[in-house]
Amino acid sequence: MEAKQSPQSGELHVLLGTEQTFPPPEHFAAQANANDPQIYEQAAADPEGWWSGWADKLEWIEPYEQVLDWSEPPFARWFGGGRLNASANCLDRHVAAGNGDRVAILWEAEDADDPGSGSERDGGRRSVTYSELLEMTQRVANALKSLGIGQGDVVGIYLPMLPETVAAMLACARIGAIHNVVFGGFSAESVKERMQFSDAKALVTADATLRRGEPTPMKKAVDAVAGEIATLEHIVVVDRCGTNPPMSDGRDHFWHDLLDRADPDCPPEPMDSEDPLYILYTSGSTGKPKGILHTTAGYLTGVTATHKLVFDLKPETDVYWCGADVGWVTGHSYIVYGPLANGATSVMYEGAPNYPAEDRWWQIIERYGVTIFYTAPTAIRACMKWGREHPDAHDLSSLRLLGSVGEPINPRAWLWYREVIGGGRCPIVDTWWQTETGAIMITPLPGLTTTKPGSATIPFPGIEATILDSAGKEIERGAGTLVLTRPWPSMARTLYREHERFIETYWQGYGSDVYLVGDAARRDEDGYFWIVGRIDDVINVAGHRLSTMEVESTLVSNPGVAEAAVIGIPDEMTGQAIVAFVIPEGGDGDDMEKELRDYVAEKIGKLARPKRIVVCDDLPKTRSGKIMRRILRDISVGEDLGDVTTLRDPEVVKDVERRFAEQD
Ligand code: WT7
Repeated sequence: MEAKQSPQSGELHVLLGTEQTFPPPEHFAAQANANDPQIYEQAAADPEGWWSGWADKLEWIEPYEQVLDWSEPPFARWFGGGRLNASANCLDRHVAAGNGDRVAILWEAEDADDPGSGSERDGGRRSVTYSELLEMTQRVANALKSLGIGQGDVVGIYLPMLPETVAAMLACARIGAIHNVVFGGFSAESVKERMQFSDAKALVTADATLRRGEPTPMKKAVDAVAGEIATLEHIVVVDRCGTNPPMSDGRDHFWHDLLDRADPDCPPEPMDSEDPLYILYTSGSTGKPKGILHTTAGYLTGVTATHKLVFDLKPETDVYWCGADVGWVTGHSYIVYGPLANGATSVMYEGAPNYPAEDRWWQIIERYGVTIFYTAPTAIRACMKWGREHPDAHDLSSLRLLGSVGEPINPRAWLWYREVIGGGRCPIVDTWWQTETGAIMITPLPGLTTTKPGSATIPFPGIEATILDSAGKEIERGAGTLVLTRPWPSMARTLYREHERFIETYWQGYGSDVYLVGDAARRDEDGYFWIVGRIDDVINVAGHRLSTMEVESTLVSNPGVAEAAVIGIPDEMTGQAIVAFVIPEGGDGDDMEKELRDYVAEKIGKLARPKRIVVCDDLPKTRSGKIMRRILRDISVGEDLGDVTTLRDPEVVKDVERRFAEQD
């Protein structure tokens, strides 16, 4: 059933996703790139043919011999025998095709209208053409080479949202080095750990990052841990804020000094299809982050195809903006590799959506005439809270397509996004995928798919997803474990240096050729998928993936904490929020809440700061001493606790309940 009229914001909450459907607007379907419904059938009948069609749009140095080798799953080899270079595909070929003057990045500083706190070279706005980005990339590539970085070496990248960040990634790709980007919001401790796990040889960072008008030091923070990264030989520093960080002779180099000296010509290294392109650490069930490894040809094929079709990209005319940070996989695939491989013009914004004011995003959309906008539900909910007067004060009529990613989007936010931001005329693509999948897996195609608010709809052509029960039986309609049953080009190939863990985590639940996603999902009567959430100890806070175990081990590393249990509870703004129950070590634990919240923020990053710390004398445990997190969860959300008689000490529950209520 089509929406009869635009819902008023006051009644949005009464509309359930399943009741309303939104067919693609007719004008859109007629003009869209992907307006041939047969692509689904064609891709299903001949997936290898489908993917090789996309691979053939890339520029190859040596053609591949075989599309897919899946003879020993989960070992996958895509486009075997081929050679290519990712940076050449993102840059050189567009320049060679005569598009060197096309803008690749429209960069907007946080303080664009008052660029006082920025480095003077930058100014507040920059537009970087494909030719310019190519030149910068080649210089960085030569600079890295001059530091002894070569094929297979790992280079850490810990930078704010700058064109330099993109050039650093592409420079690695150009010389066959493997980049390992760490989100700028993570702590130096997290950087250290990720550099240690990957034996990074160099790290590219900035003197500071601008946050709400204030430069926040990055280089100085890195200095405090750099000595503990045994393999680290060089630190390259982008001078973003002009804060004059201390520089260590021989080890530290300013980006601009290296680039000034570097040759502007660096031919791309011919890389094997399966050579590693990058590692990206993400949270898993255990405390130790997982180094997801993506390789060159398959990844590039996957992101090119999905970016083009899901966003109906028309590179000549679109102004595309993905509001994620480059430090997440969304940034890797849909700020850097997908858009650049497709020759798109992208907006890149350095700062927060509400700085200096709550209309910052809408101001940017108006200024640049953004046509495609991609963001996360948590951001949409924040904008809803700030009020529609902010978007309403701007001309957003350039928008023609909206995207959502990172967590399930509640129908109310979906409808608000559609009406208030999209003016009721823009299709919404709710894209489900993961760091591991490299590219979008379940999504509408905007010119083809009828959407339902809250559903990521159906698998992308060539992708096969299903839902299984615990016995491995397929569930046609209903809820269960989401799995992907066919290999796809951008799939993760391993966990860096932990291949066994890779197999155990993803490929052993239902057989070595069935990819275990880690999400529960439901399939409705139309075959549409509805993502329910994680089934492991991973939680999703504001679209950021975190491990409860990681937060727990951080808490117990504090000398004031004897034991800790961390859970995620539903949160209206952030999807989920962290609640930590802690038993103090000695002392009575008075006033330790704030200290511990800050401690976690300092050790992992602000994104992991618990919303609540509940100090208790004891935690509910089984007779064998295992903490019953289910009970903590039930207490936190006010659920009936059910049977607690199996606990070692059922009385503990009452104490925890009381503490939870008291400290609210
Ligand atoms: C997890 C992956 C995909 C890039 C950003 C997150 C959740 C992601 C959706 C969506 C419902 C979603 C899943 C998934 N998720 N997109 N559209 N609807 N849930 O990547 O950090 O690897 O997290 O995010 O739970 O498993 P990630």
